Amino acid sequence: MGAAMAKQSAQLQMPEDQELPEEEAGRDAEIVEIADGADWNVVERAFLTRRSIRKFKKKQVPEHLVHRMLEVGRFAPSQGNCQPYKFVVIREPELLAGMEEYCVSECRRLSGAIDYTAYPEGSLKRIATKSAARLFNSLDPNMMHPIPLTATRAIAAGRFMVFHRAPTVIVILMDNHGIGVPAIDIGIVGTNIIMAAHSYGLGTCWIGFSKLLNRSPQWRERLGVTERFEVSEAICLGYPVGKPAESEIERATHEIAWFENGEKKILG
Ligand SMILES: Cc1cc2nc3c(=O)[nH]c(=O)nc-3n(C[C@H](O)[C@H](O)[C@H](O)COP(=O)(O)O)c2cc1C
Repeated sequence: MGAAMAKQSAQLQMPEDQELPEEEAGRDAEIVEIADGADWNVVERAFLTRRSIRKFKKKQVPEHLVHRMLEVGRFAPSQGNCQPYKFVVIREPELLAGMEEYCVSECRRLSGAIDYTAYPEGSLKRIATKSAARLFNSLDPNMMHPIPLTATRAIAAGRFMVFHRAPTVIVILMDNHGIGVPAIDIGIVGTNIIMAAHSYGLGTCWIGFSKLLNRSPQWRERLGVTERFEVSEAICLGYPVGKPAESEIERATHEIAWFENGEKKILG
């Protein structure tokens, strides 16, 4: 696999490739005609059936599969091809337990500092916590959204886990000196990894709560998070317990603005 990958890498690095006539470009993907209303194809189905998995078997994922999905990750597009990331693969049970413990304690701390609903109406504690919550909201409105806030409370109360006892966790470190918006590149590389895992029947879940590790100098050091890097996301990985829900997960239907033939239509 190594040699094949190196060859592919050399081919992909040729920007002129795109300008070659079709027959010389050596494309191996043929253009496929898809009729209106045709069944989803294999790639589309893979995206439509992937679900987040939060319950894993104890059985460890073979090492070569992890290398394989990281290799697929390596071929992700990134702005200016800057590839602003590094991976930390953790398969050490004590390390994973320590990460879980640390993140849970941070959720407890955060919850105690901002969850004013936990204190009686009119009490000093409630007033102080509410103003702390307001301050947090102005600093990080996304984190103060009800969904992460509810999850933070659930983690603090032991009703939800951070790393879901996955036997393997891939932490993605983001290089803040990347070009453009490195967080977008992280999303793409992670999607490549997750979709490769899905194609082997493995389960994954993105873990945004892994960012909590940035708050600890000890964890930063242990995971090799050097100055310009930060823990951006993590991916839990393992063999799923049971079958993920068969049904498609509910998604919003987003408005689409469509410009054509001098007209603008709003669809959706
Ligand atoms: C960037 C990102 C961060 C996420 N963080 C977490 C997390 O910390 N814990 C968790 O259980 N799920 C997490 N998720 C999973 C989402 O909750 C899940 O993708 C969403 O509910 C849709 O469900 P589906 O993945 O099964 O389609 C995250 C997803 C993304 C894309």
